[in-house]
Amino acid sequence: MKILVTGGLGYIGSHTVVELLNIGHEVVVIDNLSNSKPKVKDIVEDITGRKFDFYECDIRDREGLDKVLDAHKVDCCIHFAGLKAVGESVREPLKYYENNIAGTVNLLKALSAHNCKNIIFSSSATVYGDPAEIPITEECPKGQCTNPYGWSKSMLEQILSDTRNADKEWNVVLLRYFNPIGAHPSGRMGEDPNGIPNNLMPYITQVAIGKREKLGVFGNDYDTPDGTGVRDYIHVVDLAKGHIKALDAISKNCGLEVYNLGTGRGYSVLEVVQNFEKASGVKIPYEIMPRRAGDIATCYSDPAKAEEKLGWKAEFGIFEMCRDSWNWQSKNPNGYE
Ligand code: NAD
Ligand code: WQD
Repeated sequence: MKILVTGGLGYIGSHTVVELLNIGHEVVVIDNLSNSKPKVKDIVEDITGRKFDFYECDIRDREGLDKVLDAHKVDCCIHFAGLKAVGESVREPLKYYENNIAGTVNLLKALSAHNCKNIIFSSSATVYGDPAEIPITEECPKGQCTNPYGWSKSMLEQILSDTRNADKEWNVVLLRYFNPIGAHPSGRMGEDPNGIPNNLMPYITQVAIGKREKLGVFGNDYDTPDGTGVRDYIHVVDLAKGHIKALDAISKNCGLEVYNLGTGRGYSVLEVVQNFEKASGVKIPYEIMPRRAGDIATCYSDPAKAEEKLGWKAEFGIFEMCRDSWNWQSKNPNGYE
C-alpha cells in the first residue's frame, strides 16, 4: 500500500516509517520540521535500505497537501503530526487548537477530496483523564482532560468519529498510546526533545549522560505502592508495530475502531529509575519534589482488545525500553544535532 505519514520524521512517526518500509509499503512523509530534523530521513533510509518521498509541508496548508495528494494516490494516512507539550499547551492553548485541530480538519478535507478515506490517528491515554477504572479498557469513559493538549486529542477523536458516522466510506482507527519510551535498537533513532525534557525517560537519560544534575521525582505521596506515579511505558518499536496491525484492520474496512496500545503493566517512577540503572550501569541521583499540576496517581492499560482483534501485543519489557533509551542517548549525547 501507499501510506501518507504526517509527522513522519518525529519520534513515533520515524519508527513507524521504518516498520512500514521493512514490510514493503510505499511511504510518503509530510512534516513541517517544527519538532524534527531532516536528517532523520537519511537515517531511516539507511536503516531500511529503502527510499521514501518527503515533503516539508504543514497540515494546515491546504494547497501544499493538495500538491502532495495530487502527486501520490495514497491508500491510507497515518496521522502523527501534532504538538504535544502539555505545559506549553496550557500557556498557549490557541496554538495547540490551531495546529492540532484546525490542522487535522484541513487534512481530513484534503484526504476526502482525494478519495482517501482511511486514517489511523495518534490518540493518547490522556483522553481518559483521571481514569474511572484501572486497568483502563477502551470501554472506560473518556474523562476531564487537565490541559489543552489532552482536550485537542479528545476533541479530535470526536471529530474523526463524526466524520466516519456521516460517511461510512471512512475507516478510522483511534490508537490511544500509553507512555512511549525506548528507541530503535540500532541506537541511531530516538526521542530528541528540545530544551528541558518534560517527560520522565528523556530526563533520566539526560541525567545519565551528565547534562542534568539530578532527576526531580514529582511527588511520593500518591496512593501507589511506593508513593510515586505509576504509568504504562511502552517501547516505541512495539508501538510502531501496532500501526502495522491497524493498517491490516483498515484494509479489511474496519469502520471506526478504538484501541489502547500499552503493555498492561504499570511501573512507578522509582521502579523506572531502578530498571534504568540496571540496564545502563549508571546511577541516577534524584530528589523528591512536589507533585506536578495535572498529574494522576496511576494509569495503565488493559491491552486485551488489541491482542484479540488486531493480533498485536507488546513484546519488549521495561529492561529493553531502558536499554534502548540509553543506547540512543549514549551514542548521541546531543540527539540529532
Ligand atoms: P514528535 O513531536 O516527535 O512528532 C510529531 C511530528 O509532527 C514532528 O516531526 C513535528 O515536526 C510534526 N508536526 C507538528 N505539527 C505539524 C504540522 N502542523 N504540520 C506538519 N507536521 C507537523 O511527537 P511524537 O512523540 O512522535 O508524537 C506523535 C503523535 O503521537 C503526536 O500526535 C502526539 O500527540 C501523539 N502522542 C504522543 C505521545 C508521546 O508520549 N510521545 C503519547 C500519546 C500520543
Ligand atoms: C511519567 C511519570 C510524572 C518527569 C505525558 C502526557 C501524556 C502523554 C505521555 C502525549 C509521572 C513523573 C516525570 C520528571 C517525574 N503524551 N515524572 N519527573 O505525564 O504520564 O504523560 O506523556 O500524549 O499526554 O501527559 O508522562 O513522562 O511526563 O511522566 O517524576 O522529570 O513520571 O510525575 O508520574 P505522563 P511523563
